[in-house]
Amino acid sequence: MWSEVGFWSAIKALSQAYPKVGSYEAKDLENIGFLFKIVKGEREGMEGAFLKELQQRGHFPILEKLEAILESTSGRKYFDRTLLLIDHLDASGFVKNFFFMIDKSEGSLEEIRKFSISFLREFPTLQGSRDLLLSIAAVLGSRSQKDFCYSLLNVLISLYQDQRMIALKRILYNAKPSDQSFMSESDFRDERLVKKILRVGREFEASSLLPFSEGQVASKKWLIDELNALDGFLPENPKILVLGGWHGLLPRFLFDLLQVRPAKIRSLDIDKSCEKIADTYNKEEVIDGWRFKAITSDMFQLDYVNLELSPIGDCGQSFPERDQFDLIINTSCEHLENFSEWFDKIPSGQKLVLQSNDFFDEPEHVNCDKSLEDFARKAPLHLSYQGELKLEKYTRFMLIGIKK
Ligand SMILES: C[S@@+](CC[C@H](N)C(=O)[O-])C[C@H]1O[C@@H](n2cnc3c(N)ncnc32)[C@H](O)[C@@H]1O
Repeated sequence: MWSEVGFWSAIKALSQAYPKVGSYEAKDLENIGFLFKIVKGEREGMEGAFLKELQQRGHFPILEKLEAILESTSGRKYFDRTLLLIDHLDASGFVKNFFFMIDKSEGSLEEIRKFSISFLREFPTLQGSRDLLLSIAAVLGSRSQKDFCYSLLNVLISLYQDQRMIALKRILYNAKPSDQSFMSESDFRDERLVKKILRVGREFEASSLLPFSEGQVASKKWLIDELNALDGFLPENPKILVLGGWHGLLPRFLFDLLQVRPAKIRSLDIDKSCEKIADTYNKEEVIDGWRFKAITSDMFQLDYVNLELSPIGDCGQSFPERDQFDLIINTSCEHLENFSEWFDKIPSGQKLVLQSNDFFDEPEHVNCDKSLEDFARKAPLHLSYQGELKLEKYTRFMLIGIKK
């Protein structure tokens, strides 16, 4: 797993591209890491911290009541000795009051404290709600820190239907799609990405956070912004081939941020360890009839006139595909020693997006360019766009157009 610092700086970089991630406050995101540890049951006795953290996230009066109960049980780890009594029901079944009797000493009910909680008046629509009572009882009866956190989030969701709480529960507990009722499509998209990053970090040793560096994310966002600005350059449902596709972040961004919806993206990299990572970042699209698939191959070995790719399925079988791509993207031009050999293989008329840079200090960059003009000379296109993006350590160059 990556360092926490690296993770948060990756999120910060992503916030440039993803609006919802951007709308999280940095502190809020940092706290999610903290909350993760609590819901996993690490460092017992952190219920109060969890509750306080939720209080920071919105106006939830019920938390004040629960906090009072938590304080009155000080010295106890959980509420498991707290008895919940329901005072009385009126004719409609509406619960008027809750009384809490808290066992403060070992083994006996020594002190009974009574909280008359009239909070249901604050939620008239929930009058008589059995589910609400059950979810409150679940908080008070929770026997572990994990259960406490889970049931506390459920109470807030059922009482307030607050989107931030639903989002938080989804992030922390990998909630199922059936819980999605209050979320908008873009909220999902952004949170799914954060969860995927965490999953990739956990499961793939070869993964790194480098693709999320500020320069990398800014370069991809720039590419997509310029494509979006070119009206009519791409068809409605383009087929896109990404070369030197690395961990498949660019396809992820293309699916999420491009104005047109790609019918198909293939991401090709010579490094086999990239394949599973790229498929994980684009998992929904892999499942969606291989709308996305990563492929291990050398871009120099392809015949771009009669393009045939051979994606490999889960069981190791190859599924050859003959296809024509509306767009070929190569943002790894600085990595290609014989750039012209590759460029000459591309048939004229092919739409291309190419990126390179002047970052000569990086040993793997065997084909940097001093200027945009030098790059454009090496790759003659009928240009729809050419430009440069100044980043902290280097300048990135981009050409968009049709091969002459
Ligand atoms: C460091 S990464 C990507 C850098 C680039 N700035 C970007 O974000 O797209 C370069 C990738 O190109 C891949 N690569 C290099 N030569 C290749 C080749 N001949 N065919 C396919 N992939 C290649 C490498 O394996 C690596 O994953």
